[in-house]
Amino acid sequence: MYNLLKGKRGIITGALDENSIAWKVAEKAHEEGAEFVLTNAPIAMRMGEIDKLAEKTNSQIIPADATSVEDLTNLYIKSQEILGGKIDFVLHSIGMSVNIRKKIPYTELNYDYFQKGIDVSALSFHKMLAVAKKLDAINEGGSVVALSYMAAQRTYPFYTDMADIKAMLESIARSFGYHYGIEKKVRINTVSQSPTKTTAGTGVKGFGDFYDFADAVSPLGNADAASCADYCITLFSDLTRMVTMQNLFHDGGYSSTGVSDEVLTRLGVDPQP
Ligand code: NAI
Repeated sequence: MYNLLKGKRGIITGALDENSIAWKVAEKAHEEGAEFVLTNAPIAMRMGEIDKLAEKTNSQIIPADATSVEDLTNLYIKSQEILGGKIDFVLHSIGMSVNIRKKIPYTELNYDYFQKGIDVSALSFHKMLAVAKKLDAINEGGSVVALSYMAAQRTYPFYTDMADIKAMLESIARSFGYHYGIEKKVRINTVSQSPTKTTAGTGVKGFGDFYDFADAVSPLGNADAASCADYCITLFSDLTRMVTMQNLFHDGGYSSTGVSDEVLTRLGVDPQP
């Protein structure tokens, strides 16, 4: 424990169950001295176990559908009331694709589902930022982080429309980061995380095999949810106050590795030169 977030106030979205990346971020933020509000879509609250997390981290829950500007406005207003001031950090940990859920191939995407995926997983990030800016709800030098995946840069066929949606999410971090940076020195970044065993992650076709492949490629192995949370905490802290508009890979070295000895060996190739 380093007290990195002592005195800071936050909003953490997306904690569905204890496997969620957001769940780990909430636990770590609590350990590091932050006070925060937890939020999720009203429907997810009924299925999830967020009450347990709220109790453990001494935090309150405000339901909000991240596609609703009205809900997000209420979220920022109530959060400031509960926490006693402006917000210092926000985690956007929201992703959902109906096309992936229904296992529809990329070349045959259903466009209503595609629109829904964009709205929930990318436009919600713009809305969270726009509402915060309009209400002037984030403190000068505050930090906003959203979670992304490397399919935004390279093709992973099974990731279908979420690849395009994550590209949009990362672009919003850059575009909004410019404006919010100039106006209030608010930092906006995306963290591009390894495959992680969560509800959203394991819903992707062939996730288990791909998880093993990525683990074999990465020199450090796949980054788990707890280490992702640690990284997010550093981004919420003042130690990274000059980092903004970046897509930051948190993947054990996967994104910089072409092929590993382990993968070659599995293919029956002798890796020795
Ligand atoms: P998760 O399933 O635990 O979290 C996704 C969350 O999004 C859930 O809490 C869900 O209730 C919430 N959500 C969905 N629709 C919503 C809406 N309309 N309003 C508010 N919240 C809504 O899964 P995970 O993996 O923790 O996902 C968090 C983020 O991490 C997502 O953006 C995901 O794409 C990203 N990510 C996940 C990876 C993985 O392999 N699990 C890898 C890289 C990024």
